[in-house]
Amino acid sequence: MYFPAYRPRRLRKNEHFRRMIRETSLSVDDLVSPLFVTSGKNVKNPINSMPGHFQMSVDHLVKEIQETKGLDIPAVLLFGIPEKKDDLASAAFAKDGIIQQAVRTIKDRVPDIIVITDVCLCEYTSHGHCGMIEKGDVSNDITLEVLAETAVSHAKAGVDMVAPSAMMDGQVGAIREALDEEGFTGVPIMAYSAKYASCFYGPFREAAESTPQFGNRKSYQMDPGNRDEAIREISLDIEEGADIIMVKPALPYLDIICRAKEEFDLPVAAYNVSGEFAMIKAAARSGWLDGEKAMMETLISIKRAGADIIITYFAREVAILLSGQR
Ligand code: PBG
Repeated sequence: MYFPAYRPRRLRKNEHFRRMIRETSLSVDDLVSPLFVTSGKNVKNPINSMPGHFQMSVDHLVKEIQETKGLDIPAVLLFGIPEKKDDLASAAFAKDGIIQQAVRTIKDRVPDIIVITDVCLCEYTSHGHCGMIEKGDVSNDITLEVLAETAVSHAKAGVDMVAPSAMMDGQVGAIREALDEEGFTGVPIMAYSAKYASCFYGPFREAAESTPQFGNRKSYQMDPGNRDEAIREISLDIEEGADIIMVKPALPYLDIICRAKEEFDLPVAAYNVSGEFAMIKAAARSGWLDGEKAMMETLISIKRAGADIIITYFAREVAILLSGQR
């Protein structure tokens, strides 16, 4: 069919037509809201580069998650800021660590929402790297043991799903094995499978106080130029027992999300990271972009690329907007 017989504009005439033929839609069901938890009481420190986000003590976290649940968002993803960091990341797997306390409290106070925990060591090591250091680099296999122990400690606290993000080889397998050994066969793993060494994590590192004190993360996170390697990384995670695969960041890696969705039959999550959030907020504050429209267009593009789940700092704002549209 060609012009003039076919005129695509006929079906763009008004919002009803556009709505009817829209191929992709965003739903509150797709969203995961990331939150930062810190020690103390009545703490709610604003995160400068992430307007509307805070480092919260557990009491505030409970309120925040009650509201999140009220908005019908199915899940939250927790990041912990421990009181003390050390070379061994001991606060990551401590029984009374910040995440373990937070999970226990949330499961008690707001039981009806999925609690996911990030399993990584960068917030807990004094040097800010995602694993144990040996001879100036992150040692893979020693780190696996610590990650496995951390995941098990989250499961003991009652977490619904763990999300390992350290980009160590074999981390999904090590965690699956440890969880199963401890009887947590029902706790799924959302694997940060294709996680790139990205500058877009900048604001997060301020929020989580996890900037590496020397070097960078390029010896474990992926090189931004690589496509096929993402497929290899995802395949490995699936073989090791991942239940959900993730691509991170989202916007600069839409092609990877698209390929992941086409090549694998597991649910695909995309992490719309802190820098992607901050860019839109900053432009909106300067009056250079319509922030709400930029948010919606960004999230729909991630969905259109193939993401089933979107982890985003916009979760609450979108949920409010979507509920108003109903
Ligand atoms: C932990 C972790 C990071 C993010 C999620 N988990 C930071 C990093 O790898 O440096 C980034 C999330 C974001 O930027 O929103 N390793």
